[in-house]
Amino acid sequence: MTIFCGEKIKRNYSKGDINLANVLRPSNALLYLLVLAAPMAAIAEETEEEGPSPIRTLTAEQSEVAAANYEKYCVLCHGAERQGYVNDHAPSLRSKSLFESGIPHAVLRTLSYGRQGTAMGGYLDEVGGPLTLDETWDLTYWLFEQSGAVRVAISTEAVLGDIERGEILYQQECSLCHGENGEGVTAPAIGNPSALAYNSDEFLRYAIQHGRDGTEMIAFSEKLSAADIDGITAFIRSRASGWNAPQTVLRELPTPDQYVINKDGEDPDFELTDDLYVSAADLYKALQEKRKMMLLDTRVTSVWQTAHIEGSFTLPYYSDFDAIVVDLPKDVMVVAYCSCPRAAAEWVVQELRKRDYKKTAVLYEGIYGWINLGYPVMHGDIREQIDGASL
Ligand code: HEC
Ligand code: HEC
Repeated sequence: MTIFCGEKIKRNYSKGDINLANVLRPSNALLYLLVLAAPMAAIAEETEEEGPSPIRTLTAEQSEVAAANYEKYCVLCHGAERQGYVNDHAPSLRSKSLFESGIPHAVLRTLSYGRQGTAMGGYLDEVGGPLTLDETWDLTYWLFEQSGAVRVAISTEAVLGDIERGEILYQQECSLCHGENGEGVTAPAIGNPSALAYNSDEFLRYAIQHGRDGTEMIAFSEKLSAADIDGITAFIRSRASGWNAPQTVLRELPTPDQYVINKDGEDPDFELTDDLYVSAADLYKALQEKRKMMLLDTRVTSVWQTAHIEGSFTLPYYSDFDAIVVDLPKDVMVVAYCSCPRAAAEWVVQELRKRDYKKTAVLYEGIYGWINLGYPVMHGDIREQIDGASL
C-alpha cells in the first residue's frame, strides 16, 4: 500500500533478510549455526509456502543500537522491561501473541507512523520523527527477539462474520475497556482509524482469540465461539471505512531566535497547582495578553508537525538537555505540554528544574485537553492521500 511507502519498505526488507536457501549451504557456517540455534518450529514454518517470510537476525551492533533507541524513545511509556502501563496505558511490548502475529507490519507501522489521536506518535524520519527507516526495522526485530515469540502465519484475507451480532457482543464484552466507540479507555483504541489501517483482520482476530499474555486482555476463544469472534472482528473492521492517510509535508522547525514568544511582553502571572501545573484557560489568557514565554512541545517531533500550539517549538522528552539548554534563557517562563497528557512534559520540566530553570510549568490538560476545550492549534501542511493514489 502506498500510504506506508510500501516500496521502500519492501526493498529494505528483502535486502537485509536472510534467504534460507543460502543459509543452509554448508559453506555459510556461521549463519548455519544461527539457524540451528533457532527453534525448529520457526524453521518448519518459514520453509512452508504459506508461512511467514524469513526474518532477519540482527547483528550485535544493530541490536545494541536498537536497545539504545528503545531506552531513549520508548521506556517513558512502555517501561524498561517492555511491560507497558508506565504511562498513558501504553500496551505491553513483550506479550508473545503480539509478536507472533504482528511482525513485521503491525509493530513496524505503529512505531513508524504512530496512532493519531493517541499518545503513540510516529518515530520515522519521513513523518518528522527521530529514527531512520533502517532503525525502525531494527527496533521492530529487536522487540521481536526480546519477546522470544515464534511467528505464526497470518493471512491478509478479510474475516467475514455477522456484523450486527458482532456489535452487540462488542458492547457487552469489550466496550468497558476499549470504549463504546473503540476509542480506548484503559486499553488500546482498537477503533482508531490509523490502527485499523495498519492492522489486518487476522491480526485483530488473533488478538481476540489468544488475548495478550501478561495483560488484562484475556483469550476470548475460551469464552466465545469462533463465529462470534469472526462477527466481532468484522464489526471492528466495518468501522474503518473511508479513512485517507494524510501525509504531512514537513515544516521547518523554529530556530533558537524564535523560541521566545512576545519578546516585549510582560511575564505571565500563573498560579500553579502543585507548584507545577497551569490550566489551559490560564495559558490561553496569557497568550491572548501577549505575555512573554516559551512553549515547549515535548512529544516526539512528528506530532508537532501534525498539530501544535502556535508559537511552540519542539523539545522532545528524549533531548540531550545539557546541549539544548544553551539556547534556552533562564529568565523566561517555560510552559511544556504533551499529549500524554503530562508524562513527557513533566519529564522535561523535571530535567529543566534540575538545571536551575525556576520559571517552569506543565499544561495540565495536555494538547488534547486544550483542543477539546476549543482552543486553537496550528495544523501541519497536510496532503490528503487517497487510497491507492501515489504521491
Ligand atoms: C508518550 C507515550 C509513548 C511513547 C513514548 C511510546 N509509545 Fe508506543 N504506544 C503508546 C500508547 C498509548 C499506545 C496505544 C495507543 C492506542 O492504540 O490506544 C502505544 C502503542 C504502541 C504499539 C502497538 C502495540 C500493540 O499492542 O498493538 C507499538 C508497537 C508501540 N507503541 C511501540 C513503541 C515504540 C517502539 C516506542 C519507542 C520508539 C514507543 N512506542 C513510544 C504510548 C507511547
Ligand atoms: C478487561 C479489559 C479488556 C476487555 C474486556 C477486552 N480487552 Fe482487548 N485489550 C485490553 C488490553 C489492556 C489490551 C492491550 C494489552 C497489551 O498488549 O498490553 C487489549 C488488546 C486488544 C487488542 C489488540 C490491539 C492492538 O493494537 O494490538 C484487540 C484487537 C482487542 N484487545 C480486542 C478486544 C475485543 C474484541 C474484546 C471483546 C471481545 C476485548 N478486547 C475485551 C483490555 C481488554
